[in-house]
Amino acid sequence: MAMAISSALPSSLLMAAAVMLLIVQAQGITRHYEFNVRVYICIACLSVVIAFLMNLIDRSIDLQVQMANATRLCATKSMVTVNGQCPGPELVAREGDRVVVRVTNNVAHNITLHWHGIRQVRTGWADGPAYVTQCPIQTGQSYVYNFTVTGQRGTLWWHAHISWLRATVYGPIVILPKPGVPYPFPAPHKELPVVFGEWWTADTEEVVNQAVQTGAGPNVSDAFTINGLPGPLYNCSAQDTFKLKVKPRKTYMLRLINAALNDELFFSVANHTLTVVEVDAVYVKPFTVETLVISPGQTTNVLLAAKPYYPGANFYMSAAPYSTARPGTFDNTTVAGILEYENPMSASAASFVKGLPLFRPTLPQLNDTDFVTNFTNKLRSLATAQYPAAVPQSVDRRFFFTVGLGTLPCPANMTCQGPNGTQMAAAMNNVSFVLPSRALLQSHFTGLSTGVYAPDFPVAPLSPFNYTGTPPNNTNVATGTKLLVLPYNASVELVMQDTSILGIESHPLHLHGFNFFVVGQGFGNYDAVNDPAKFNLVDPVERNTVGVPAGGWVAIRFLADNPGVWFMHCHLEVHTTWGLRMAWLVLDGSQPDQKLLPPPSDLPKC
Ligand code: C2O
Repeated sequence: MAMAISSALPSSLLMAAAVMLLIVQAQGITRHYEFNVRVYICIACLSVVIAFLMNLIDRSIDLQVQMANATRLCATKSMVTVNGQCPGPELVAREGDRVVVRVTNNVAHNITLHWHGIRQVRTGWADGPAYVTQCPIQTGQSYVYNFTVTGQRGTLWWHAHISWLRATVYGPIVILPKPGVPYPFPAPHKELPVVFGEWWTADTEEVVNQAVQTGAGPNVSDAFTINGLPGPLYNCSAQDTFKLKVKPRKTYMLRLINAALNDELFFSVANHTLTVVEVDAVYVKPFTVETLVISPGQTTNVLLAAKPYYPGANFYMSAAPYSTARPGTFDNTTVAGILEYENPMSASAASFVKGLPLFRPTLPQLNDTDFVTNFTNKLRSLATAQYPAAVPQSVDRRFFFTVGLGTLPCPANMTCQGPNGTQMAAAMNNVSFVLPSRALLQSHFTGLSTGVYAPDFPVAPLSPFNYTGTPPNNTNVATGTKLLVLPYNASVELVMQDTSILGIESHPLHLHGFNFFVVGQGFGNYDAVNDPAKFNLVDPVERNTVGVPAGGWVAIRFLADNPGVWFMHCHLEVHTTWGLRMAWLVLDGSQPDQKLLPPPSDLPKC
């Protein structure tokens, strides 16, 4: 993977320092730099010290959104990419760095990029969801995303945040700890991103447009990929297989990212265990599993310990979907990469020996919700003095949202292919969120919100029902562009309740602008009297995307200390399209450093 990454700082000393740091830090990236080593090493040493003292590095990156051809499963397609790559370039930064990304749109589609999981403290203008924090970047235009990585280290990712373009527009974000700060676990021998994606032979923009026009559920992907490669279990794909070559006795950190559009995934490596050490760029208490589950939007760092000897075998690294939905409504295939050991006896150490025994992992059943519950219950914050779990102990605002599917009546001029001739829809608190044609954040900032949004998102369902019991006969949802307003620094508790309308389903809910703590979860209907007593307020996992259990509920808490408009949505793209999304409006605080910064001058116009 090659990428152009350069550093821009006022002083040339710091520029050299940044370049040196990038060269030292950006593992796994091919770098093409030539310079006079002698001169620069002196300058760099000095400037590393200066940069260390200032603890500020600017990372400037140019990203070109451009069409590129790719061939998978025996078919070639032209698709939207960043820099012609899929997955796109890996962004590497250190905690505390300022990141400046210039994005230029060279394609016929409008585009935005989102830095998934980056908190964007006071810099909502750089968050990226189209029509929420910005108007899209139009063809031929550029926009500079400018933000600082504060209080986070680990793996996150970036992706397009408009329509379904993230199908091919995504890539890893690696945030290294501050200089001199070690991981809270033994340093791995090597680390690398392992990005799960979906491969669609069709153009995903046509797929979603057709689904919206017919009201039916959209088609599903043709394959899953690991770092863009489908692997040996698919047609024509043996050459397109991700291979991880390891040495005996060494430990490897896999930065797992689920960038699939619509599928939660189980992942396992045959005859090896995985030790989970971080999720969503927050360290967790390490625990070891054979299989894990990762939802779209989530990231998970795992340590994979290679065997102490050369095993004379190869091992599949496989991922397949978790879903409680009807078969046919999701991609029921399996992606495999291959874990290979370097043969100490072989002349060319890393050569792949043909005919070695091959081991495959056993993945859970497609609908194994018990497995998922078991796994998610193991996730705990480190909760140490250095990495405390700052879970709000008291609550200022309590909210209860239903999360689920529904329908919309078929418009008079249309024939609809949803259930009983309706259109498929999805909603939170029965509101199917309609994106405006002007950006919410700008409307808020300029005070021109009339006709763009209403600040009246319901704090609880307007007509309560037995959410996980027999579904009501009327499955219709309302539509609207409603925001929920929070005062600065409110501590919030939100219970999200799945419904059985058109079938229970797990929904990976993602909140922009914040991490939250997952204080409780359960099955059936949430019991506001008895369930809170079971909440974990000591070491709950902290993350940005959580699965609302199929037929159950999850309770989260967060501190609304980031002014702006923050999108919250299901990270299954099909559900987002159907309206399973809303936005919070967090007001400015009274202090100067508690206010949303003004918009950059190049903010795109609608
Ligand atoms: Cu990963 Cu709103 O997105």
